[in-house]
Amino acid sequence: MNFSEMLLQWYPNHKRDLPWRDTNNPYYIWLSEIILQQTRVKQGLPYYEAFITRFPTIQDMAAATEEEVMRTWQGLGYYSRARNMHTTAKYIAHELQGNLPTNKAEWLKLKGVGEYTASAIASFGFGERVSVVDGNVFRVLARFFGIEDDISSIKGAKIFQALAQTLLPAQDERVSTYNQAIMEFGALQCTPQKPDCMYCPLQASCVAHGTGRQGELPFKSLKTSQKERFFNYTILKHAENIAMRKREAGDIWTGLYDFIWEDAAGRQGEVPLCLDDLKNNKHYFRLLPAYAPVKHILTHQTLFISFWVAVLPENLPPPCLPEGYAWYTPEKVQNLPKPIVIAQFLEKNGL
Ligand code: ADE
Ligand code: SF4
Repeated sequence: MNFSEMLLQWYPNHKRDLPWRDTNNPYYIWLSEIILQQTRVKQGLPYYEAFITRFPTIQDMAAATEEEVMRTWQGLGYYSRARNMHTTAKYIAHELQGNLPTNKAEWLKLKGVGEYTASAIASFGFGERVSVVDGNVFRVLARFFGIEDDISSIKGAKIFQALAQTLLPAQDERVSTYNQAIMEFGALQCTPQKPDCMYCPLQASCVAHGTGRQGELPFKSLKTSQKERFFNYTILKHAENIAMRKREAGDIWTGLYDFIWEDAAGRQGEVPLCLDDLKNNKHYFRLLPAYAPVKHILTHQTLFISFWVAVLPENLPPPCLPEGYAWYTPEKVQNLPKPIVIAQFLEKNGL
């Protein structure tokens, strides 16, 4: 049995049950692929459900305001993905009469759709005979075939693309499933850190396993560059109390306390969405003058943080806070564990 046949045999017994695999609706498939860029399946799933519930058709998304789309996206990060998606939804609804493109070349022309995404939609949605090469596929191919070319170089990427195309199963109707299979195999079996070689159906012919080089493949010369992120922090004050929450696992600063937080990519310099919310719900607040953004460098990320201070009137009851947040007295705020950049901001500004 060859490589593709083995993956096709492995897949039905191991695949996760994911909702975008049970649909032929290209709008849903497009949605899922945009959400899953730079996002793990576990984190993306509830957003996928929220989007198809709130915007069941591309016309619904096209008719929505940018703010509605952003609110549904809120918390997923990389807000430019949501804005490009909304732009593309409007373009398809208005300029293409609601007809989604049906092949890779046409998808590639749309905003926010690159090589990977166009291939994924063309294959999963329309059965086009194209390989889908994401990080999982690079890893599986590099290890199984012992390919040492640099996946971060254009030349290297082309070598992998070409090989991937030759590995597609002969029958067109199996291509889509095969593409899902190899991605799933990389996500579940041939994982970055501890691939499960012991119980791997490809083990006997796998070059990396045979030579003990799982840890060195795939080879990537360019370390992922320092990622830039843009944060909005809103310090909401009510009768000297400040709204804070404990950060959960899955991002920086797990277990530390911070303020009302928004990933502001795509909305840099704009008033935080939570303040729009308060205004829309007729809550009055006094916004203190703007503070200079703070640059904060972490190991793999550079943060650009904008702070906003909004003071609520004491004589009115405070508004409901977003989930996870609570009011803390100044003393408590002082004592909570906080990221250093937040502690310094409070101290420097006498808050
Ligand atoms: N990551 C990106 N696209 C995916 C898909 N269709 N299924 C599972 N994980 C994915
Ligand atoms: Fe990946 Fe190990 Fe299987 Fe090779 S044997 S394909 S390295 S899981």
